[in-house]
Amino acid sequence: MNQSYEFVVVANRLPVDEVVDDDGSRSWARSPGGLVSALQPIVRSHGGAWVGWTGQPGDAPEPFDTDGMHLHPVGLSADDVDRYYEGQSNATIWPLFHDAVEQPTHRRPWRQAYEAVNRRFAEAAAHLAAPAGTVWIHDYQLMLVPAMLRELRPDLRIGFFLHIPFPPVELFMQLPRRGDLLRGLLGADLVGFQRPLAAQNFLQLTGRLLGLDPQEQHVVYDGRVVTARAFPISIDVGEVEKLAADPAVQAEARRMRTELGGDRRMLLGVDRLDYTKGIEQRLEAYGELLADGTVSNDDVVLVQVATPSRMRVLEYQELRARVEREVGRINGEYGAVGQVPVHYLFQSMNRAELVALYLAADIMLITPLRDGMNLVAKEYVAARLDDQGALVLSEFAGAAAELDTAFQVNPHDVEDIKRALTDALHADTSELAERMRPMRNQVRENDIDKWAHDFLGALTIASR
Ligand code: ADP
Ligand code: F6P
Repeated sequence: MNQSYEFVVVANRLPVDEVVDDDGSRSWARSPGGLVSALQPIVRSHGGAWVGWTGQPGDAPEPFDTDGMHLHPVGLSADDVDRYYEGQSNATIWPLFHDAVEQPTHRRPWRQAYEAVNRRFAEAAAHLAAPAGTVWIHDYQLMLVPAMLRELRPDLRIGFFLHIPFPPVELFMQLPRRGDLLRGLLGADLVGFQRPLAAQNFLQLTGRLLGLDPQEQHVVYDGRVVTARAFPISIDVGEVEKLAADPAVQAEARRMRTELGGDRRMLLGVDRLDYTKGIEQRLEAYGELLADGTVSNDDVVLVQVATPSRMRVLEYQELRARVEREVGRINGEYGAVGQVPVHYLFQSMNRAELVALYLAADIMLITPLRDGMNLVAKEYVAARLDDQGALVLSEFAGAAAELDTAFQVNPHDVEDIKRALTDALHADTSELAERMRPMRNQVRENDIDKWAHDFLGALTIASR
């Protein structure tokens, strides 16, 4: 159906991934990551359309309706996946926008593929959106789409939200063809960021690179006002609370605790296996605490869930090898028959299993070196209906601004992680409640619906 959706989301991934089994049969499974967790409920409630990739190379399947949404797949060839997704998106822009914690790679064919694929997404959105409809474009894989779409459909209201950090001016300046990316974003009426500093960086760049005259929250470009502001993303609190109150989920949490050794305190990490997440620093800190006797294998256990992610990108393969070597080393040195200090799960989980883990964990360890927001932190807080549990949280996660009563750490400083972990282990139940309660209130008052409502409300105003 052409041009009939009042509300269209455009994101690199559809909310479901195509899964091809060994026997060649195909099915759909929920895609990983925070973006999908955040957006799926919103599109469903609008009866809208979602433009995205299936997660597999090859021709796009026919568009289809599911779960109250119209899904419009965009096909990526094996070369596109290699150059646009793994290359320009995840080996150039991703590391550069995360403070270059890994060295960004710059390749001309990757940039060309990024532009060509962005154009296909823009064309698909132009095809689906109703006259004067709203199109909401997401994340760093699609930064050229706003300008391309505006050219095709000047009647549309166009919003863009960046889920990851936006880099400081000096880092952004390193990108080849940096002006194109900036002009791409300026095609939107409203450009949203996780943190106010990111919006400021963006506005400052429009002055430096394009000679524009940015004001506090907007800039005039091409005769239009473009607004840039922070909208910290959140989670579906109701969903997490419902699971946390479910007797079956609570029973599963108790079973996990018993399996791990009833008296041991449980530490938990849940991350995509990504070098921005600080998993190695966390393991190093835990290993040192075991080595110096601050904690022992009899008293504590760490469960580290590492969701497989971008496994064809070299840096991710190397990270996996290093993490798994370190887990093996720690278990080899400090483990006993039938009892190891690290349980490492390289797998995806369903929502109920994740929430059971949150309920079971005494201490949630979230130590990214840089993170746009970190939804896992908010999910852990929302799940703790008992106001117990300790959150050890990196000050470089976007969530740190809102979750300011967490045990905050500098994740680059292994001593500081050890200090926070030890503090969290020694905190009594009243301190834990004093820390957890305000965080739970914060997340409850600022859930995903409010985020979407705020963004879309601001978009309506910005595009008048
Ligand atoms: P990112 O967007 O970088 O992956 P976030 O913490 O913001 O990081 O979001 C991760 C999302 O993915 C959360 O909603 C979390 O519940 C979900 N998630 C994390 N690990 C798993 C897993 N192993 N299986 C399924 N979902 C997961
Ligand atoms: O939020 C960052 C993000 O890159 C999302 O855009 C994405 O959906 C998620 O993390 C998971 O990454 P990927 O789609 O590369 O598996």
